[in-house]
Amino acid sequence: MPDSKTDPKILVTAALPYANGPIHIGHLVEYVQTDIWVRFQKLMGRRAIFICADDTHGTAIMIRAKNEGISEAELIAAMQQNHLRDFRGFDIEFDYYGSTNSSENYELCCQVWAALRQSGLIVQREVSQLFDPVAGTFLADRFVKGTCPNCNALDQYGDNCDKCNATYSPTDLINPRSTLSDGIPEVRSAMHLFVELEKMHEFLNEWTQTGDHLQTEVANYLKGHFLQKPLRDWDVSRPSPYFGFEIPDSPGNYWYVWFDAPIGYIGSTHAWCKQHGEELSDWWKSESTEVHHFIGKDITYFHTLFWPGMLKAAGFTLPKQVHIHGFLTVGGEKMSKSKGTLVKAETYLDHLDPSFLRYFYASKLSASIDDIDLDINEFVAKVNSDLVGKLVNLASRTARFIEDVGLAPVYPHDGGLFKAAAAAGQSIADAYQANDYARAMRIIMGLADDANGFVENAAPWTLKKDPSQASKLQDVCTICLNLFRQLSVYLAPVLPRIAKQCGELLNDPIVHWDQSQSPLLNNSVNKFQHMLQRVKIEDVQKMIESGQENTPAEEIAATPVSLSDVAPTLIDSGDALIAEPLAETCSIEDFIKIDLRVARVLAAEHVPEAKKLLKLTLSLGGEDKRTVFAGIKAAYEPEKLVGRLVLMVANLAPRQMKFGLSEGMVAAAGAGGVEVYLLSPDSGAVPGHRVH
Ligand code: MSP
Ligand code: ZN
Repeated sequence: MPDSKTDPKILVTAALPYANGPIHIGHLVEYVQTDIWVRFQKLMGRRAIFICADDTHGTAIMIRAKNEGISEAELIAAMQQNHLRDFRGFDIEFDYYGSTNSSENYELCCQVWAALRQSGLIVQREVSQLFDPVAGTFLADRFVKGTCPNCNALDQYGDNCDKCNATYSPTDLINPRSTLSDGIPEVRSAMHLFVELEKMHEFLNEWTQTGDHLQTEVANYLKGHFLQKPLRDWDVSRPSPYFGFEIPDSPGNYWYVWFDAPIGYIGSTHAWCKQHGEELSDWWKSESTEVHHFIGKDITYFHTLFWPGMLKAAGFTLPKQVHIHGFLTVGGEKMSKSKGTLVKAETYLDHLDPSFLRYFYASKLSASIDDIDLDINEFVAKVNSDLVGKLVNLASRTARFIEDVGLAPVYPHDGGLFKAAAAAGQSIADAYQANDYARAMRIIMGLADDANGFVENAAPWTLKKDPSQASKLQDVCTICLNLFRQLSVYLAPVLPRIAKQCGELLNDPIVHWDQSQSPLLNNSVNKFQHMLQRVKIEDVQKMIESGQENTPAEEIAATPVSLSDVAPTLIDSGDALIAEPLAETCSIEDFIKIDLRVARVLAAEHVPEAKKLLKLTLSLGGEDKRTVFAGIKAAYEPEKLVGRLVLMVANLAPRQMKFGLSEGMVAAAGAGGVEVYLLSPDSGAVPGHRVH
């Protein structure tokens, strides 16, 4: 057992995903990578916690909330549910998942801020920035577009030109336009607060270059690009309006999102501590804690210069390691919405098993910051050959032969296979620890090859036919199932579902790495339950097609216009109309009495006492919220509804039901039961829009 007094406590974080968009398979490289590492630590019996949160502040969230006609708080609450659902779907298991918009985080921001002030690291300066007089807000660089001052290319962002790669300030753009309002921005100046990072130069030089906190390539990059000249002051405030925390000693100014986001690691730990009766100082001001951050290479600067600087100034534990990974490409290219390769986590789960992606990423991830590529053919081949062909087959081809007799009481002669695989445990563990999952997977699959060679040779399916070979059959199957179990322990961090199923099959849950070191004997064997099906390339293609968005204009112009050309399968039978004929004619006056509105689902929950109903909280924009009980339970999971738009009858007289007051009705098509199809408007409609 670990000794909590002397063993290090391991605190692991993954970067906090932005609350302004859904989780996609690029993000998952990181969350899967981190989850594997944490599960590995726990399997080794170490005390580890996995902390994360939604990153909720900033201009993008503010603008999106405004466009959708909801408050920021509503938007981020819905997004958090959305993110959590996706993470659960991929077996990513946080010990705590919070929000940067929490009271704990505010408290910690105040602490860090006071420390920075006290150390004399904060200075104040006027900054000229573009201001959108129509939207009434200062414009971040990517909300300004105009003509490149260097090469005259049209329609370039405010910070750099993607035609000539020049970098400039948004005030240099020719004919600048606000992307928010299309208004002409004006230059205004405002007071900003800066952290003088240069005052920590010596510390940062030492921290980044010694102590193995960073991969060598990262340390060298920082040295070459930043540390050989004075570090620039870091602008950490934004004037109102801004969605974030107001700075206590600077009213009307807010902390920039990148100030409070990393502090969210501590804020979220604090919330976890409160839940578990722990002291925050034991985790963030303690010699016996190892802090490990996992991040993508795009946010290196924030995590390797600003963040250690802030932690140092405020007296918090510095990271033991920042583990940095590369970016996901699909088929060798950047992910793209129009190609359908920017696959949302949700879309993936509609088509494929999460274990496939977890294993595929594991087989690709190493300690380097190189990008990793998802090639569809490789994905299919790897999953089928390794997971189904080598791993699951070991159990599926043998378990059923000894369901009635169980495992042999004495471990039979296996030619040294189990022992050899046990001996490989240390190098597999070392590879996990060093983030070299690709190496771990290679070693494990090598062992699986050996095990499969044994099965082929021993041919239990032939032994089964000869009753005089019953004892030999039991021996062979005992060997195979023990090899399967050994591999399942080694793969448990990557494939928790398989590990769980293996535990159930052999009546011995997998909870510790050491279970790989000795065989299981005499246990009964349960009925083999289906584990993984081979993946078909068509399923992957379907997933990509269904995620395709934003067909470019030229393609639209070239599309045929007759429905039978576009989709012959869409010629409808007319059965629905026969089943429910049209109602009698009504006048336009009758129709306009019904006030149909676009509404957003803010929350959806089961009503335990009601068989058919879900309780929905709908927003018509702003503060206007309605509770509606809708008979759609058979057709919709509550989690899938949150965030989406629906149409509602907004002026229906409220009705008192057994479970509460229903204040309207949502519009749906279909015959009822599972055949219920909610309606939603085309994109662009916002809550509160009337349907005419
Ligand atoms: N909110 C910031 C992080 C704040 S941490 C204090 C952020 N959010 S993000 O949603 O854009 O990204 C979250 C993580 O996912 C980042 O570490 C980012 O590098 C990673 N990835 C986002 N897209 C990715 C790929 N296409 N490939 C691999 N990782 C990617 O950054
Ligand atoms: Zn240019």
